Amino acid sequence: MAYGLLKGKRGIISGALDENSIAWKVALKAKEEGASLVLTNAPVAMRMGAIRELADTTQAEIIPADATVVADIENLFSRSTEVLGGKIDFVLHSIGMSPNIRKGKEYGDLNYEWFQKSLDISALSLHKFLQVAEKQDAIAEWGSVVALSYIAAQRTYPFYTDMADAKATLESIARSYGYRYGKLKNVRVNTVSQSPTKTTAGSGIGGFNSFYDFADKLSPLGNASADDCANYVITLFSDLTRLVTMQNLFHDGGYSSTGISEEIIEVLNK
Ligand code: NAI
Repeated sequence: MAYGLLKGKRGIISGALDENSIAWKVALKAKEEGASLVLTNAPVAMRMGAIRELADTTQAEIIPADATVVADIENLFSRSTEVLGGKIDFVLHSIGMSPNIRKGKEYGDLNYEWFQKSLDISALSLHKFLQVAEKQDAIAEWGSVVALSYIAAQRTYPFYTDMADAKATLESIARSYGYRYGKLKNVRVNTVSQSPTKTTAGSGIGGFNSFYDFADKLSPLGNASADDCANYVITLFSDLTRLVTMQNLFHDGGYSSTGISEEIIEVLNK
């Protein structure tokens, strides 16, 4: 059911690779709630992904941008304000990739060039989005920026390797820029820390299925799906959450506050 929560708003949504992507679900719901959209992804992902199909469904323009390249991001924001006919009301940062994880490197054997790539793609890119937006004054007063994170920023998950450090940096950037952009333009910046979700990025993590099941059994409400995540993100883009900023918001079915559950004890007793 749609509520018109984003009626008349203009948004940029990054990271929709295929129909499993969290960003894909956010784009569909944002459209349903009345927003007009620009979709963006890395040029290489665009060739492999199905973004064209999403663009047709959501009547969105696609503007390719590598999230590590400032010139691409400058073009993304300036073109988006042109195409959408005004300043941007919301931005979704749904971007993550670790070459070390892709190549199966463990935490004691990281390739440092790749480590820097992980940080650049998955964390510094949020700063780049925000700095470009501020310089171009591209985000409207009371706009909202949301980036997606994972609880490995606070607690150790051995297989998450350098992405844990990237997520900790991402959350810190959201706080630091949230302060700055709040003072400047009443723009809010938050991260949503999502349950493990079966997407291309998620399933790439070693042991993913095990920690997906573990989290599902630990969380009183079970793992939050990508669809539920999209619903939550829409509220953060809406005017109903105008005073929420600089937060890392857990969207995880209660996982982050649970020590142990009966289901986990049952498995251990087997
Ligand atoms: P996904 O694989 O569908 O999305 C990741 C996106 O990042 C892709 O669209 C990819 O093309 C894009 N990307 C990679 N390098 C890029 C670059 N240089 N420039 C621009 N875009 C680039 O997977 P998912 O799960 O939807 O990931 C979205 C976000 O959610 C990521 O930040 C991820 O870390 C986060 N997240 C995912 C969880 C999961 O279990 N799937 C759990 C918690 C957070």
